[in-house]
Amino acid sequence: MRRFTLTLSLLAVSALCLLPVWGEAPQKIVEIATVNDLVAEINAKMELLGQQMASAEAFAKTLEKKEVNQAAGVVACMAQAIVEHPDKAQAKFHAADLRDAAVMLRAAKTFEDATKLFSAVKEAQAGKSAGSAKPEAEWNKLTSQGRMMEEINGRSATIRRGLRRLQKPDETARDCMTLAILALAMEADTHEVKDPAQLPLWKELSVKYRSEMIAMAKAVRAKDTAKATEHFTAANEACNKCHEQIRDKGK
Ligand code: HEC
Repeated sequence: MRRFTLTLSLLAVSALCLLPVWGEAPQKIVEIATVNDLVAEINAKMELLGQQMASAEAFAKTLEKKEVNQAAGVVACMAQAIVEHPDKAQAKFHAADLRDAAVMLRAAKTFEDATKLFSAVKEAQAGKSAGSAKPEAEWNKLTSQGRMMEEINGRSATIRRGLRRLQKPDETARDCMTLAILALAMEADTHEVKDPAQLPLWKELSVKYRSEMIAMAKAVRAKDTAKATEHFTAANEACNKCHEQIRDKGK
């Protein structure tokens, strides 16, 4: 009997181990990006945010397309990727603090608010924050789907141009990596799927998109333009399929 109970509890423990850890990304970050890549992307977006917030006039121009929201959403995703990265110590700041500050900035409606919230983001990026944010975060809450799609759209155009001559393979590879990380948030955020029977298709297409972008980043770094183009085409098929079969279903 004792043995039976032991077996049962062992079974229970192993079943628990099979459950996904709450809040973790659907794929290990280390398989997608290095901490250096992630930090470089954060720095680029911080520079952009600095320009968007340089004056009240500059900020006003970002409102229509919610550009601050979009850039801050990317920072939040990259920061959470660092939190979940085994080499996170390479980043000289508390990535979870940066993530939370960036998520707060997304909601800013006035220049005054945005300026205040952006200084918290800058402080976190400079490593001056308290380190009090918890590591766990839900990937479907880091960015909004519409902003993420706009980012994907703009970046895809940049990638398409970059692919023609592949003069800056490192930059193009980082663009691919960034989109692969955003695709983690895509997979997690299923709120646009109105018919539960389509959930597996949503997952399949987000995973497909992500895997193609990961493979493309590798091909770009190896300067294999033909292979990179193949992966890019396959990734774009996932965009169209998802828009046709899920987003625009019944429209
Ligand atoms: C797994 C499904 C899926 C994939 C893959 C996908 N999309 Fe989308 N896309 C959506 C959904 C759902 C929306 C509507 C989101 C919203 O408006 O909040 C959307 C909206 C958009 C929009 C409009 C954004 C806006 O302002 O509201 C653009 C542009 C876009 N997608 C581009 C792309 C591109 C480019 C790709 C591939 C490189 C892509 N999408 C891949 C599901 C997907």
